[in-house]
Amino acid sequence: MSRQPLVVGNWKMNGRRAEARRLSAALVPLVKGVATEVVVCPPFPYLVDVADQLQSSLVKVGAQNCSDHAPGAFTGEVAAEMLVDAGCHYVIVGHSERRTLYQEASSLVAGKAQAAIAAGLVPIVCFGETLEERDAGTTEKVLAEQVTAIQRQFEPALIEKLVFAYEPVWAIGTGVTASPEQVEVAHRFVRGLLAEAGETVRILYGGSVKPGNAAELFSLENVDGGLIGGASLDEHSFAAICQAMG
Ligand code: PGA
Repeated sequence: MSRQPLVVGNWKMNGRRAEARRLSAALVPLVKGVATEVVVCPPFPYLVDVADQLQSSLVKVGAQNCSDHAPGAFTGEVAAEMLVDAGCHYVIVGHSERRTLYQEASSLVAGKAQAAIAAGLVPIVCFGETLEERDAGTTEKVLAEQVTAIQRQFEPALIEKLVFAYEPVWAIGTGVTASPEQVEVAHRFVRGLLAEAGETVRILYGGSVKPGNAAELFSLENVDGGLIGGASLDEHSFAAICQAMG
């Protein structure tokens, strides 16, 4: 079983063009030689700038969202093909901020993942429970609903091309990290759901990952890397997290 580790920086709706260029350039020497694949996901308007900046480095570029449609009359949307054209290799779909603030249902997230695969991008499919759902004892039910919605859209053989990211909603941007045990239990459960796709599917953890807790989280058997929000906006913190992956 070999799963290439992956650490992804989700810049969310932060920074300006100059900062996007500065941050991406500053990151390159700091992550040279790390064992993990490294991806940064800037806001849409800065994708081309950042992709140009990173062209001759090993750091790849991803977007934070895409349309579930092919190019056409969809005002305000961005097609997966356009992201490839802009220099992206990855795209995050189904982040909890999109599921909750923009009412994205699991079926829409699955459509986005499918559009991404069709365009040649690797979708990073986020899933996770809220605190209310965890307290009500429904975590596994929620994770299963979100993950099986994706499975329904894909042949099992295609699932291994996707990356999954467990992001408990209560741990995102809160400074509260899920305990290593909570993370491993959730990851093992989802790997079980995805068993048909084989052992190579990568499952990342996201939610208040910092340089101080990354090594412990990344050492867990079923954790293949991280999806990093706040700490990815500082090149030193993000590089330290990448180094923690080994
Ligand atoms: P955080 O965000 O690291 O700031 O908690 C993670 C994410 O939302 O992907």
